[in-house]
Amino acid sequence: MPTILITGANRGIGLNLARLYAADGWKVIGTARKPADATELAALPGNISVEALEVTDHAAIKALAAKLAREAIDVLWNNAGVIGRNAATLGSIDADELRETLMINIYAPILIGEAFTAHVVASQQKKMAFTSSKLGSIAENSGGRYAYGPSKAGLNMACMSFAGDLRSNGVIVLPLHPGHVATDMGGASAPVTPDQSASGMKAIVDKATLADSGKFVDYQGASIPW
Ligand SMILES: NC(=O)c1ccc[n+]([C@@H]2O[C@H](COP(=O)([O-])OP(=O)(O)OC[C@H]3O[C@@H](n4cnc5c(N)ncnc54)[C@H](OP(=O)(O)O)[C@@H]3O)[C@@H](O)[C@H]2O)c1
Repeated sequence: MPTILITGANRGIGLNLARLYAADGWKVIGTARKPADATELAALPGNISVEALEVTDHAAIKALAAKLAREAIDVLWNNAGVIGRNAATLGSIDADELRETLMINIYAPILIGEAFTAHVVASQQKKMAFTSSKLGSIAENSGGRYAYGPSKAGLNMACMSFAGDLRSNGVIVLPLHPGHVATDMGGASAPVTPDQSASGMKAIVDKATLADSGKFVDYQGASIPW
């Protein structure tokens, strides 16, 4: 039975990824800031365990990696993220929210990727997926989003570093744009359902080989310019 660890698995895209992998027979380790409130995640049918993780807490990341030291993790999915709405517009950038967005969207996935590299290398499938965003595309940026855009562009850069460093270990690194998804972050009127997004990304991760490592694609497989 393959194993996946998903951060931010208590709601939105992460919860839907957890549901799909569990339905496929995987062992799912879902992390949540407040496990006691992660009732939908805990109630999913299948082999689900819920672990506490505030992703910006480096000591907590290392403690979780140590707790799971004997666990081979086939897919490490860095999914937790925030939009940083109050740090988006020139002239009214909230410095604390800018810092928090960069911490959650860049600092955390880098340190989680580092802490769990050995678990991924020890697995059969050896994959690291990152929920990135098209809004991190420098080529497509025409202004604004001072927190979110740079945070996802930085995440993409880190993905390329993981891809380069871990290629010789056979690790496949996949930065993915989930589409504009109807979650708390994406808003109720977003065109893509969480199920469509999670299913699309899962299909891409399922079939990914080392030749796909370091490619930035959306949930339908379309390539996105850096
Ligand atoms: N929705 C979209 O249209 C869209 C588009 C492009 C990319 N994305 C990306 O997709 C990912 C998931 O987004 P979503 O739409 O599912 O958003 P969401 O519904 O707002 O869920 C965000 C998840 O991240 C977790 N999280 C946030 N900060 C955290 C922290 N400091 N420590 C631990 N967990 C934390 C949240 O936990 P809590 O419940 O504890 O807050 C929640 O589980 C994000 O990386 C986002 O940037 C989304």
